[in-house]
This record gives sequence, structure tokens and C-alpha cells, in this order.
Amino acid sequence: MYSFSHSKSYLKLKQLALNSERDRIADYFKSDSERFINMSAKANNILIDYSKNKITEPVLKELLLLADESELQKKISLMYSGDHVNCTEDRPALHTALRRELSESLSVAGQDVMHDVSKALAHVEAFCDQVRGGAWLGYNGNRIKNIVNIGIGGSDLGPSMVCQALCEYQTSELDVYFVSNVDALDLNQVLVRLKPEETMFIVSSKSFATQETMLNAHSAKQWFVDNTAYKESYIAKHFVAVTTNITAAQDFGIALENIFEFWDWVGGRYSLWSSTGLPIALSIGFSAFSELLAGARSMDEHFLNTPFSKNLPVLLALIGVWHINFQGSNAHAVIPYNQCLNQLPAFLQQLDMESNGKSVDVEGRHIDYDTAPIVWGQTGANGQHAFFQLLHQGSQNVPVDFIASIKHNIHTASHNKALLTNMFSQAQALMLGCNDAEYSYKVCLGNKSSNMILLDDISPTSIGSLIALYEHKVFTQGVIWNINSFDQWGVELGKALALRMNSAEFEHVEHDASTQALLDLINM
Ligand code: F6P
Repeated sequence: MYSFSHSKSYLKLKQLALNSERDRIADYFKSDSERFINMSAKANNILIDYSKNKITEPVLKELLLLADESELQKKISLMYSGDHVNCTEDRPALHTALRRELSESLSVAGQDVMHDVSKALAHVEAFCDQVRGGAWLGYNGNRIKNIVNIGIGGSDLGPSMVCQALCEYQTSELDVYFVSNVDALDLNQVLVRLKPEETMFIVSSKSFATQETMLNAHSAKQWFVDNTAYKESYIAKHFVAVTTNITAAQDFGIALENIFEFWDWVGGRYSLWSSTGLPIALSIGFSAFSELLAGARSMDEHFLNTPFSKNLPVLLALIGVWHINFQGSNAHAVIPYNQCLNQLPAFLQQLDMESNGKSVDVEGRHIDYDTAPIVWGQTGANGQHAFFQLLHQGSQNVPVDFIASIKHNIHTASHNKALLTNMFSQAQALMLGCNDAEYSYKVCLGNKSSNMILLDDISPTSIGSLIALYEHKVFTQGVIWNINSFDQWGVELGKALALRMNSAEFEHVEHDASTQALLDLINM
């Protein structure tokens, strides 16, 4: 039985970490003129340069042996073929099926998954063509001009991030808005700008039970009723649902033909490839949405078929394990330099921290090692004027993923050059540091690790590949840490307490003095 901290490689890696404590990354380049070539890899229009990490060939070799010892190749195949890898919910995790060639077949529990996927995609395509083409008319014959996606977590972050990433591919007159927070301001700031007769609401919720989403959805429906000469039939023209819970969506008043279904074998944070991606397809068109799927598919094939030493998700995962479990880093910064990727850090927070923020292994044993890091970040160059001080002179080593595209669609050479040279310079400064014999407060110790992730361009294909790259990095780390990356039991307690505190029978509950005092303050 595999156990991360009792694996053969674990102890060797601990020793290698001790041996390299005094190493300088900069010296690695002096002793190996081919270091960039040896420690970079390219696939599917993405290059990763991991040479500016405090990592040597022997360390990399041992990390690859660790991957083998965790039976990673077998676990990849099992996940891809629909095995119940989500062991606590006894489910597959088949987000990869959402972007497979539709001609393939994949049977899960006797059901042809690809037939269901094909049907769901056809529903999305037909709806997109009708709305974007003007065939879908509102209750008074107006074209739909605005889309409001109401959802939270995986029902918001992925679609919103991709719409922003591909903002230059928005090919419709449609304006797409995302409402997620239960703070009424989030919804009201959108509604105040819209006319109900030109607006389509997407109520996006896998469970169709999330408190925040349902409250926002009911408030949006009330706004619609209050601002139109309302008839029940109008709802069918202005509200659709994305969910696995068909009954609850119908109870809300959404017509069956306007419910875009997906399935319990798709995790929320992995669902943008499913009907959850409806706002993406409405924004960029179904053809471009298909290119997004194809980009992810190409990364799936790379992940499945490439030797781990050249496998981009595996390399990023192993380097992350080295930082977290052998270099003592508990945080990981994601700093995209493309403005269109400004929502990527928030998306990766859920993908990484909700998947691997676990402390029990797949056997139910409490674990004695660190797992997911604190993932955070912001666009560069902005971060250079916000938190880079800590990265350069702080007391902690925070490994960084720098991300940018070489080609930009907007042709402003001076801006592109400034963007990329800033990013390259920051990675170099983190590695080299600087000395100042006279003033210690000016010294940057350097020796700080970073990955450089360079996309050929920003396109539906490259964005699909980039997201799948991180999905598979997270999966690989979950396998190495021997944890279930596909459940999220930790969020259930907070949800239950909030529902109870928000309910009418709440008064008769004893609370800790703090909570009670706070509730008294708001007179509850
Ligand atoms: O945070 C818990 C969670 O269940 C996420 O996994 C999910 O993406 C989010 O809440 C929203 O859930 P739903 O899509 O069911 O509304």
C-alpha cells in the first residue's frame, strides 16, 4: 500500500533537500550551460521553463521515481476511463469526457457517457445559435441583449474566468454578466443596467440548492416580475437553468426544455467544459467553445501519453511537491501578466485548494505531511507594486508561476515588450537577488524559485490547454499525496450552520458567546 511519507523516494528526497540546503540556483546555470534546455518542456502551444527552481537532476530523477511509486500512470488511466476515483462519493471524475472526441465511446455503469455529452453539447449549441442569431425573442419580441449568469464557486469562477480570458473573442452583441455574491449589491449593480425584456438569466447550480445562488435567482425572478407586465409564460423566455437537479429547476419555474443538464460525475470546479460553460459559448460562439474543448483534449492526450520527464502537468506537480514537502513552502503565487488572465488566480484557488486542501488520505487515515498550498496571486505588473516586496525580501520563500502569452492580439509592441521584460526581470531578480555591502536593508537574498509558463498566444485552444494543464497538475499532486481530489466535505459544515442561522427556527439554539454577541448586534 502506497504511502507518501513512507515511500522509498520520500526519505531520499528529504536527504537531497538537506544536501542542497546551501545551493544557489544561479550556480546551477554556471555548472550546466544546457540547464534551460534540460529543464524546460513544451506541448500544445505551452512552454514551461522550470530551470529557475532550486532543483537538480538527481532531485528531479527521484521525484519521477516518486511518481512511479505512487502508480501515477495507472491512476491517470483509471480517472480517464471513468473509475470511481472520487472514493468518498463513489463517483467517477470525468471532466475529461466532456472534451473527448464525440465519436469515442465511454461506458460508465452501463450508460454511454459520450451519448449524454453529445446530447448536452447539442442543446448548448442550438440555444447559442438561437440567442446569438436573434431567433430567440423575449416576451415582447425583443432580441436578447444581456446574459446574467447566477452561480457561485465552480458555477461561476470557471465560466467567468474563461469569458474574461477570451474577451477578445467575444463575437456577439451580447453582454455577459456574472453574479455570485449573496451581497445584494452584486446582483443590483447588474440589474440596474438592464431591461428585463432583453435579458436572459442562467441559474447555474449543480445542486440547485446553494443558498447564495438560490437567493440571487429568486431575487432576479422577483425583479423580472416587478418590472414587466408579468405572465408565468414569460419565465420560459428569460430563465434557463444549468444543473444536475432537474426537479428543483422545474420547481423554480424553469421549463424542462430550458434546463441544460450535466451529471454528478462532473465536479463543480471541473465543470466549465459542460453546460456550465453555457455563458462562454454564448459569449464567444459554439465554434470557439469547441476549440476550447479541443485545447483541453490535446492536453489530456499529452498527459495520458507523454513520459513523465516531459509531461507538463506531472513536472509542475512534482516541482510543487518538492517546494511544499521538501523546501517548506506552504504558499504558491500565480502571477499572470496578461490582463485577460486576471481571474485565473481566483479560479486556481478553488481548483487547487478545494481539490487538495485535505488532511485525510484515501484510506481515511490522518496524514502527517502538507498537501495543497495557499494559492494566491494577481496580475503582474500590478503585483510588482503591491506584494513583490515580500517575494524579494520577505522571510518566506513563495514559489511563483509566471504566466504570459508571447503573442498578443492587440498590436501594441511597446506594451507587449514592457509586459514580458517585466515578467522575465522579476523571475531573474527573484533568482539572483542583489547584495549591498553597506546597507543590509537593501539586500535581496535571491535564490527564490519560479516557473515560467509561456503560451504561444491567447486563443480558445491555448486557454483550454492551460486550464487542463492545471487540472492535471492538481490531480497528479492528489495521487502523490494519496488523497481524494474530487470531494469537498470541508465546505458542508459552514453551509449547514449558515442555513440554520438563517432559518426561522433559529432562535432556540445555544451559541458561543462571540457568535451570540455578534447576532445580538444585528438583532437576530
Ligand atoms: O464550495 C462548495 C461547492 O459545492 C463547490 O464545489 C461548487 O462549485 C459550489 O459550491 C457551487 O455549488 P453548486 O454548483 O451546486 O451551486
